[in-house]
Amino acid sequence: MTDRPDTRIFVDGGDPTESQRVKDALGYLDGQTTNPSLVSKNPHIRERIAQGKLTSEELLEEYKKIVQDVSRLTPDGSVSIEVYADADTTAEAMLAQGREMFGWIPNAHIKFPITAAGLEAAERAVADGMRVNLTLCFSQAQAAAVYAATREAKKGQVFVSPFVGRLDDRGERGMDVAADIIRMYGAGDGHVEVLTASVRGVPHFRQALDLGTDIITAPAQVILDWHAGKSEPADDGKLKPISYRELDLDADWRSFDLHHDLTDAGIEKFAADWNALLKQ
Ligand code: E4P
Repeated sequence: MTDRPDTRIFVDGGDPTESQRVKDALGYLDGQTTNPSLVSKNPHIRERIAQGKLTSEELLEEYKKIVQDVSRLTPDGSVSIEVYADADTTAEAMLAQGREMFGWIPNAHIKFPITAAGLEAAERAVADGMRVNLTLCFSQAQAAAVYAATREAKKGQVFVSPFVGRLDDRGERGMDVAADIIRMYGAGDGHVEVLTASVRGVPHFRQALDLGTDIITAPAQVILDWHAGKSEPADDGKLKPISYRELDLDADWRSFDLHHDLTDAGIEKFAADWNALLKQ
């Protein structure tokens, strides 16, 4: 059993039943993150898909119901809702979706990918008073751009989500990126909170707590395992370290290198999982 940490704990998932299970076990739930791939695995959506694919409106209605159910479980927390984006989606189109989704629940953060279009949408969303979560972050430079694009935001309005597990998957020590971002933001004004994501097991979970990340999002089972005190071996030291870089948070966001191939691959996969549910 664990004491409640200073780091907020979010469930990474698309099924409110799992979120309820975590809340029952911990006695609290600080929030939830969702994404198109996770929503596509929701049991009710799977049942509907077994009867036939959905229209875009029907699928969005299902997504809305899921986040409304989760929002009720964490009324003082935050629920991240992701816009649909593929390589061609414009900032305007992302912002329009974000505005609509932000109205679904009182405690939404809208997820935009860290691309030029996603950051432009986020910059405008923040200016409109929306809360945002900049997702698919794989580099310190991308996080610096998030900071710079959302300079006017209040604390709590902006999250950045480093995806540690996907970097580990290709042999790089993903937790270093989270650590580097936390260190870099230490010199800033604190308006962006670090939400460590793509957490694959208890070792990641504990490392993220040790780093003092603002938020961890993890699959329900990982949170339950951590809470039960389960221990698993940490990585075997073979992951390639990622070095800290000196970056100027006062620079224009467009001056940072926004590109990362895992961001591109992530956008493609989210779009594919979403489109696979839709009637052609
Ligand atoms: C976070 O917001 C994402 O939904 C998530 O952590 C992605 O994790 P994965 O790399 O295990 O898909």
